[in-house]
Amino acid sequence: MIRVTPAVVFLLLATLARAADTPANADWATYLGDKHRTLYSPLRQIDRGNVSRLQVAWTYDTGEKGEYQANNLIVGGVLFTPTQSRRVVALDAATGRELWAWDPAKTRAGPGGRRQRGFVHWQNESGGERRLFTVVGNYLFALDPQTGQLVESFGDQGSLHLTVDGAEADSHVTGLNTPGVIYKDLLIVGGFGGPGAVRAFDVRTGARRWIFHLIPRPGEFGHDTWPPDAWKTAVGVMPWPGQSLDEARGIVYVATKTAEPDFWGGDRHGANLFANSLVALDAATGKRRWHYQIVHHDLLDKDLPCPPILLTVTHGGKKIDAVAQGTKHGQLFVFNRETGEPLWPIEERPVPASTLPGEQAWPTQPFPTKPAPLMRQRYTEADVSTVSPEARALTLDRIRLSPNFGPFPAPSLRESIMFPGFDGGMEWGGGAVDPDGIYYANINEIPWILQMVETRRADGTPLPRGERDYLVHCAACHGLDRKGIPPAGFPSLIDIAQRRPRDEIARLTRTGFGRMPAFDKLPESQRDAILAYVLGEAAPAASRPDEAAPKVKAKAKGKAAAPAAATPPYAYAGFRRWQDHEGYPAIAPPWGTLNAVDLNTGELKWKVPLGEYKELTARGLPPTGTENYGGPVVTAGGLIFIGASADETMRAFDKATGKILWSAPLPFSGNATPSTYMVGGRQFVVISAGGAKSGRPAGGKLVAFALPAN
Ligand code: HEC
Repeated sequence: MIRVTPAVVFLLLATLARAADTPANADWATYLGDKHRTLYSPLRQIDRGNVSRLQVAWTYDTGEKGEYQANNLIVGGVLFTPTQSRRVVALDAATGRELWAWDPAKTRAGPGGRRQRGFVHWQNESGGERRLFTVVGNYLFALDPQTGQLVESFGDQGSLHLTVDGAEADSHVTGLNTPGVIYKDLLIVGGFGGPGAVRAFDVRTGARRWIFHLIPRPGEFGHDTWPPDAWKTAVGVMPWPGQSLDEARGIVYVATKTAEPDFWGGDRHGANLFANSLVALDAATGKRRWHYQIVHHDLLDKDLPCPPILLTVTHGGKKIDAVAQGTKHGQLFVFNRETGEPLWPIEERPVPASTLPGEQAWPTQPFPTKPAPLMRQRYTEADVSTVSPEARALTLDRIRLSPNFGPFPAPSLRESIMFPGFDGGMEWGGGAVDPDGIYYANINEIPWILQMVETRRADGTPLPRGERDYLVHCAACHGLDRKGIPPAGFPSLIDIAQRRPRDEIARLTRTGFGRMPAFDKLPESQRDAILAYVLGEAAPAASRPDEAAPKVKAKAKGKAAAPAAATPPYAYAGFRRWQDHEGYPAIAPPWGTLNAVDLNTGELKWKVPLGEYKELTARGLPPTGTENYGGPVVTAGGLIFIGASADETMRAFDKATGKILWSAPLPFSGNATPSTYMVGGRQFVVISAGGAKSGRPAGGKLVAFALPAN
């Protein structure tokens, strides 16, 4: 029998009070939790006191492999997940039982590629009309969330082509990894590939209601930050990480990528607005309200990697509605979201000048004076690896030979160390904020290698066309020597002829697949020359070694022919992480961290390692943290849930201190952002686990955690 002591009465009352203000059902109906992209959940059934009892409630196997980066939606007890081939699967969110599945392989888009991060769910006020929007290839589809059938009244029988301008339908290929955002009856999307644009489509018909050109045209603001005719051929600047929405003010906030080519700006002198910018647009009309360019004339692939987050902070005793943008440098830029005024001063500081003839690196770059960056900003001799004596010797040698020039090195023919690295700082998972104005962010601290190569021989003669175009278009991923970059998941092309028939290689190069981009913009003759080089065949008859790059054909009738896109004289030598002889990041730990920053004061609250190499811990090292992809979720239960690390583990941290309160193994790395929701009075936390790193377990599973049912 329970003795009724005052303590028991208190506990009972506390439990009742909690039950009363916790709904039996709570959705996660919007990508990253809400349109502010806060990754915050008001749920608190799972809290600091009971999280240690969290266990697997159900799992679901997609039957597929590879990157599974979905932040899954839960609406009315149904979970919607995009699988690794962009099938759409609806599950009972309480049990994981499959309700329906939709397969794009049977549509005009064909099978889809990986890295789909989520969907947009829309319903009208009565809930009578509903749509689930998904993107496969270049097509935006509207599905009925009830049945998984196409909504035939949308677009052309349920889908529309995402081309940026109708007239150029086949010259620019645009897809979507990150879903858009709904404002009233508009679906606002960014994209990847093609010339940068933000567009709004009618949710019911698919008709385009507005477009904002992120590469400004003559007469548009910012046109003078490019060479006058660049807009005709320029690509890049696409806002791939997604956008956030202030519904009450009717403002959509867009974070954009770099201008292309990423590492050579000789043909795009100028600051290149609106590349690498936070852009605030009127959500009803697409008109610009304000913008801030975070990297000028980017030469380092410093895309803004995550959506802007909307939050409210207190500054000087006043509440301010703010927007915070994270960067690959691990900085936070924080603005008043109405006016665009920075909350702390941002300084333009000088950065290194270019040494490549023809390049003009921008002389200064913006640095926020607060908060302090969430990672080291320069690799010095004090940062050499401490993991082993061998790693120490090796890293010391190399940093002397290949220096690091701080956060904005100018690309050059000389190898240098790129740190902060190409994948952050922050990455696509972004951060989470709670109603107290605390920003939680996971950070990578991995060094990379930066080097350019000439596309001409030492005597000034151009390389044969196929080889040169291989360097320009393929070497960044498949390596200068065609041996690939296996640790980064880029396959070798050396023996490709033995693995695939020629016509299949030609098709894959044209259409792209998985993380392999499409090259359908390149003229066929150019792709042919590349293939001949890759396959070691004699060069195609039509191509002479000194042949100039073919002109880009203007496809649209009545338009002036676009100027020829000259072959850049320099090409990037490839995305390479700098690793030690054992394959660990070649720098003193931490390699991955979780951070809490108070955006009321701008001060760091805490920083802890995220992830662990058990074999290094066994050698006596404190946990180093690992490279991590996928964001955190913060809850009213006082917890941060995060997968992301490279050790196939899901963790819960105390949001007040950064202490690990619970962890559980995942079948594959959880390189995705979790969702949390409530069905039938039970709170679940669900994560997509795919694990696409070579040498690690790979598959595709959804894993849902909950407290024991009784
Ligand atoms: C941005 C990185 C990137 C670039 C640039 C790139 N590829 Fe790829 N490529 C990949 C990845 C990643 C894969 C593996 C795709 C997957 O399984 O998801 C791949 C796969 C391939 C394959 C199939 C390999 C196999 O083992 O079956 C071929 C062929 C190929 N690429 C050719 C090319 C050619 C030709 C170019 C230049 C025109 C090129 N790629 C440029 C990333 C890239």
